[in-house]
Formats: sequence, structure tokens, C-alpha cells
Amino acid sequence: MFITKHDVTDALKEVIFFARQDNIVNLDMVDDIEIKGNDVKVTIVFPKLDDPSVGIIYNAVGKKLKEKLGEEVNVDVKPVSEADKGRGPLAGVKNIVAVISGKVGVGKSTVAANLAVALKKSGNSVGILDADIMGPSVPIMFGVEGERPGVMDREGKSVMVPLENYGIKILSLGFFVQPDQALMWRGSMINNAFNQLMTDSEWGNLDYLVIDMPPGTGDIQLTLAQSYNIRGTVLVTTPQKVATADVRRAAMMYRQDKLQIPLLGIVENMAYFTPQDMPEKKYYIFGQGATDELAEELDIPILGRIPIVEKIREAGDDGTPVSLDDDSPVSQAFLDIASNVRKRVAML
Ligand SMILES: Nc1ncnc2c1ncn2[C@@H]1O[C@H](COP(=O)(O)OP(=O)(O)O)[C@@H](O)[C@H]1O
Ligand SMILES: [Mg+2]
Repeated sequence: MFITKHDVTDALKEVIFFARQDNIVNLDMVDDIEIKGNDVKVTIVFPKLDDPSVGIIYNAVGKKLKEKLGEEVNVDVKPVSEADKGRGPLAGVKNIVAVISGKVGVGKSTVAANLAVALKKSGNSVGILDADIMGPSVPIMFGVEGERPGVMDREGKSVMVPLENYGIKILSLGFFVQPDQALMWRGSMINNAFNQLMTDSEWGNLDYLVIDMPPGTGDIQLTLAQSYNIRGTVLVTTPQKVATADVRRAAMMYRQDKLQIPLLGIVENMAYFTPQDMPEKKYYIFGQGATDELAEELDIPILGRIPIVEKIREAGDDGTPVSLDDDSPVSQAFLDIASNVRKRVAML
């Protein structure tokens, strides 16, 4: 049989990359096809190479090509990474940082939003992606609630243009779904919408893309984390034992062999309360010590501690993250966190 590129492409269209729910041809993962007689060499671009999907696709490509083109075909699959190739829709994004927590209400979104602002203030180009379908709050925190992302053409495909405020690019799963409908979304729908926000969107060149991840550990978190080359996670917890126990589980999930996403460190939120008229006093409302224990156990640094401050909540509700205010001591705390994140990323 005389094999053409067309034959090979047709066969490869039957190989599905499950994490992104489409075949590898449509996903533009096939970088190169070389044919010499019965030898077929296919170069395939993956989001990252240390992922189980590489082996699965490797085997599937070999099997499919033999099935379609004949057993005598010798298949050579060469996996390369998007980063090495400088290609893929997120090629312009240098560092994806996922902000995670064990449970709802510990301040994950608040930390994600203010980390994004602090990174921006320290001279980086920054985007924020709100992937928390049950509680998408980034649009409110950035004052773009009710707005819709734009659309543009990219190589014949229409893609979303992120909203922008305070110089930060913003997209949210909340743009797709009403909060009262979120419960009815299947995992595959969430995965699909997330993929669109990541890859069918014009993020352009960014130093940091901060992702406000859904809290906890589950299929969704696993799939989202598996599909992309995440540089590291920032864990958010309050100092209670129950909160640190939950975030410990989440941390272990991201760190497990299958994902190998490094933990950058912990932000202790609501660390203490200082009344405005007694600035020297610190009340440890949620206790003290549990975060330090967790940091030691996981062998990661505490990136910073944020007190309970009314202004943080107000600023979040008003759509002006507290870090925008240069005079607030909390702004400095977030700048320090941003600086620690940069140092950790540089170490990896
Ligand atoms: N350090 C803080 N001081 C005061 N209020 C805070 C602080 N951190 C978070 N909040 C408030 O607590 C609520 C929950 O925070 P949020 O960031 O939405 O949590 P999560 O994303 O983890 O569910 C919000 O109203 C937020 O403004
Ligand atoms: Mg949230």
C-alpha cells in the first residue's frame, strides 16, 4: 500500500485526547508526519510530557495506524511538549498558577484576585481565569459583572477576547452559566467550558495566568489540572484544623505522581483580627499553628499571612481588589506574596 499523509491524518482523526474531548487532529496536536515506504513517523505535541495521556495516545496512534494502514506499517511516535515547540494556544503564557483550597469560603477567590493585582503591580502581564463553577466571584471582584467577553477570529476560528480591568485580562466560567444552574452541569460540560476559556481564548502574551480553581478534590479538579501545564499551586487556608485538613487533601491530589504539579506554598488567610482602634492587638480568631504544621509537613513555605480586615470584603464586593490601594497594609502583604510566588516559580 502506498501511504499518503492524508491516510495518516484520517486515521489520526480517530485518536481522541480525552482531557480535551476531541481528536488529536482537530486539537492541532499533530505537528509533523513523515512517511518513508512503510515507515510512518508522527510528531505529537502534548501540553506536558510527564502525563499518563502521553502513553495512552502513543499506544492509540500505533494501534490505529496499523488498523487503518496495515500491520506491516512501522509506526514511530515522537511526543514533544507545547513549551518546547513554542506552540499551542497557550504558548504565550509563561506561568499558569492555580489557586486552590480545601473548602469554600476560606478566601480562595480573594487571594487569587489580589495575587493577580499584586503580580501586575510588580510589572508582570497578568490574566485571571475563574474556574470555580459553583461560586464564580472573579467578575464581581474585578467589577466586570454582567459584561461579556468579545469575540475575534484567530486563524479561521472564532475565539473569545478576555475582558480587561486594572490591566488584567479576565475570563470566568460564570460567563457561561447562571449560579442556580451550576448544580446541573455535568463534569464533561464543565471540562468543555474550561477548555474553551483556556484554549479558545486570546490570552496573548502573559507572564502569569492565575486560575481560581474549584475548591476540594474531585474529578473536575483532576481533569483540569491534567489537561494543562500548570507551573504550580498556591494553597489557601484559614488557620483552623478543619480547614488545613481539607487543604492537605487537595494539596496531596495536586502533588500526586499522576499530576506532579509543584506546590508553591501556602497563604494563610484570616490569620488574625486587629481592631482598627487597637492596631497593636492581634486576635487569633481561628486559632494559631495549624498552617505552620501543614507547611512543615508538606515541606513548603508560607507565602504570606492575611489578617481579617473589613476592607478586604468591601473591596471585593465593590469590584476594586484591596491590593489596588497602595496605602493599605494588606496591599503590601499581597505584594510580598506575589514576590514569594515569583521566587518559587524561578526556583522550579
Ligand atoms: N482576609 C479577609 N478579611 C475579610 N474578609 C475576607 C477575607 N478573605 C475573604 N474575605 C471575605 O470572605 C468571603 C469569602 O471569600 P472568597 O474569597 O469568596 O472565598 P472562596 O473563594 O474561598 O469561597 C468574601 O465575602 C470575602 O470578601
Ligand atoms: Mg471563590
